[in-house]
Amino acid sequence: MNIAIDGPAGAGKSTIAKTLAKDLGFVYVDTGAMYRAMGIYFIDNGISINDKDAVTGSLKNILVEIRYEDGAQKVILNGTDVSARLRDEAVGNAASVTSAYPEVRTHLMDLQRGLAKKMDVIMDGRDIGTVVLPDAELKIFLTASSDERARRRCKELEEKGEKADFEKIKADIEERDYRDSHRETAPLKQAEDAVLVDTSDLTIDEVVSRLKELAGKKRNG
Ligand code: DC
Repeated sequence: MNIAIDGPAGAGKSTIAKTLAKDLGFVYVDTGAMYRAMGIYFIDNGISINDKDAVTGSLKNILVEIRYEDGAQKVILNGTDVSARLRDEAVGNAASVTSAYPEVRTHLMDLQRGLAKKMDVIMDGRDIGTVVLPDAELKIFLTASSDERARRRCKELEEKGEKADFEKIKADIEERDYRDSHRETAPLKQAEDAVLVDTSDLTIDEVVSRLKELAGKKRNG
């Protein structure tokens, strides 16, 4: 059984998917991390993310692999574990820009589908229910208002002792939403058969139990 969770940045996809995977005994697959690993390659190799030909021309040199250590996903880029760098702001931006190129998406598709074929996965991203796993047994579209997502991001940064500028973070979130949902290939959108869950006014526990209920119903037919 596979569960697809799509939605905009900061809606709580990874937190929810991780908890749900643990509770249900599924493997959590974070596809954003794969696009981020590619972003690291472009940054480290001085490839301009806006230069589509340079980006697509370099794909033959990029191998992204996934490993699991104590249940946590590790992303291996050309043999090096880059997991610790995935959350950098510049890396997220590079992933958002270059994931609009169809060739970049195709480069990761076999890896994503291969994982779902081998194991029961909860896979999160932008196009999992629409493109990557159109036959997933359960599809969720997880969203929240941009205000709430910006508040959550600020809290996360403040907890790490970093400075957070709410207005800037909110503007960045809205810019990324726009880019992710207006690209031509596999844009962020709710699959027709996905269940919409707005997490703006829900706690993590409330969202997890709602999704568990939905997964239980699917499992029992
Ligand atoms: O979920 P995230 O923030 O880690 O994703 C980073 C970027 O990767 C996001 O801005 C868009 C892209 N992405 C995508 O295009 N398709 C996916 N399935 C996952 C992520």
